[in-house]
Amino acid sequence: MKHWTFFLLLVLTFVVPARAQVVPAPVQVDKSAGIPNTRKELSRKVGKSAFAKKTASLPAWAQEDAYLLTVTPKGYKVEANTETGYFYALQTLKLMEGCGTVFDYPRFQYRGFMLDISRHFRDKDFIIKQLEALASVKINRLHLHLTDDAGWRLQIDQYPKLTSQAAWRVGTTWKEWVAQGQQYAQEGSPEASGGYLTKADVKEILAVAERLHITVIPEIEMPGHSREVVAAYPEVGCKEDSRELCPGKEATFTLLEDVLAEVMDLYPSEYIHIGGDEAGKQDWKSCPDCQARMQAEGLASVEELQSYLIKRIERYLNAHGRHLLGWDEILEGGLSPNATVMSWRGTQGGLEAIRQDHDVVMTPGNYCYLDKVQDCPLTEPEGFGGYLPLDVVHSYDPLAEVPAGKEYHLLGVQGNLWHEMIPTPEHTEYMMYPRVAAIAEVGWSQPENKGGFRERVSRWNDALIAAGYHAFNLHEERGEREAWKTGIRHLAQGKPVSYTIPWHRSYPAAGSATLTDGKGGGWTYGDGRWQGFLSNVDVTIDLEAEREIHYVGATFLCNPGPGIYLPKEVEVWTSIDGKDFKLAGHALNEMKDPVISYILYGVPVDARARYIRFKATRSREWLFVDEIVVK
Ligand code: ACM
Ligand code: ZN
Repeated sequence: MKHWTFFLLLVLTFVVPARAQVVPAPVQVDKSAGIPNTRKELSRKVGKSAFAKKTASLPAWAQEDAYLLTVTPKGYKVEANTETGYFYALQTLKLMEGCGTVFDYPRFQYRGFMLDISRHFRDKDFIIKQLEALASVKINRLHLHLTDDAGWRLQIDQYPKLTSQAAWRVGTTWKEWVAQGQQYAQEGSPEASGGYLTKADVKEILAVAERLHITVIPEIEMPGHSREVVAAYPEVGCKEDSRELCPGKEATFTLLEDVLAEVMDLYPSEYIHIGGDEAGKQDWKSCPDCQARMQAEGLASVEELQSYLIKRIERYLNAHGRHLLGWDEILEGGLSPNATVMSWRGTQGGLEAIRQDHDVVMTPGNYCYLDKVQDCPLTEPEGFGGYLPLDVVHSYDPLAEVPAGKEYHLLGVQGNLWHEMIPTPEHTEYMMYPRVAAIAEVGWSQPENKGGFRERVSRWNDALIAAGYHAFNLHEERGEREAWKTGIRHLAQGKPVSYTIPWHRSYPAAGSATLTDGKGGGWTYGDGRWQGFLSNVDVTIDLEAEREIHYVGATFLCNPGPGIYLPKEVEVWTSIDGKDFKLAGHALNEMKDPVISYILYGVPVDARARYIRFKATRSREWLFVDEIVVK
């Protein structure tokens, strides 16, 4: 089935919508009004004054997107101020069955999705297919992460080696490329894997995007995540194998400005994303050109040197009528005067930028990073650091922490799909859908209109699957870990715990209450229920009275990606007086080939005691434990 035919399916699936939901609700059909048997357009008033008056109190961008849709048995009528508003009315109509009236406008002007086509290349046809689905839920920005260490993905005429060399690598998957030493290859050679968008490809993408009222924002990453650029043009690195561009050399600015000139020629977007994240800056400290630049410009730190580069690039973009957009690291060393910040390391960077009177797009990892798995990690394809189910994405409120009176600086929200762990196009779709619909609704709907999302999105998602998208099947969702959902009842619940070795300050969970609070950890270690140790675990529980004890056990998390492993051994000691302890038993585990797992270390005990000392010996790096269960 062709992908656009899912719209037809959706028409058959939905009933009358409530207002302001990107996926309309199946609310009561008004029987007296009848079911429409036609999709005939009865009238269309775009840019007419009556509707302009109705929307006059809205911000200008909301006036542009607003619409009034009336569906009757005879057909439908639309009022809107712009063609975009009219387009959104049609998107709602496609998802609606039955009669009713919808007056609708967005909560935020920026409703984005980011696709990383560097780590694994995605071609023009794939991108166009996704644009259709994104538009159906009124996403209006597609941010393309076009360049990174793992491959440059855009034709640049003045720098042909960016695509003849830097777009091709040894290793089909990102993991293979890393394992084989991050080597690049010549286009057309037998070992070359990768690809890039030609300018003709981009023009085709942009033509479709324009028809779907989506702005495509190109990202040219600098000065970090640029190993592929230095590999192709060593004159822009501090050293030949630098991972960052050299801000000391004029050649760097020549290349960046030449590239951005071609990018601006191609993309009409007001915003040009320049990356700015995660630059290591190590080589800058010993590079004579970087040091000379810092001296000449009076820069006190490498952070200020990065800021010098970003500010210079901003002047260039502004001189060409464009705005600079960058990851929240561009705050470090001083934010450039007109920059817009994309907050990804939580919301703090975004909130700080708002305090400095800059515009912000929120995309915090805990809600917006769709590279995390969306269901039980034991059965999902490998993700990148964490668990982010649909409901959690949908629960995000980007305005929650924004200071009153500064809300206008919050442009909106974006979901990001980094591609290190996503080798195939099918897997990309699997990670996108249905979670992008949750991002879309966070961006479009007022919180009071977000009810019933699961049922609504489920129909939308089923229609996507029927139309040939490889979406995650929501009907098979398993949800959180059982111990997280139901809790754990046991003898030591609520009893005090003393720590011979403290927990790690980054993963305190609920502090000293964690291990006996009856709350099981979820699928991921960062969820505030797993306690983390960069040491052995050695704690003593006081049952506050002598009890018969038959069992002591604890579950440990193993997740080799972030360096979390199982303990070599667990020991349980008991005592009546808290001074004299006897070994009651122990449990061992040897995991030869560690994979994500949740392993119970259970120790049968036959003792009468008030105190229980629990020790776990680590094998390497981190230990994570959620509860010590006593029976
Ligand atoms: C990012 O995730 N490094 C922006
Ligand atoms: Zn340098």
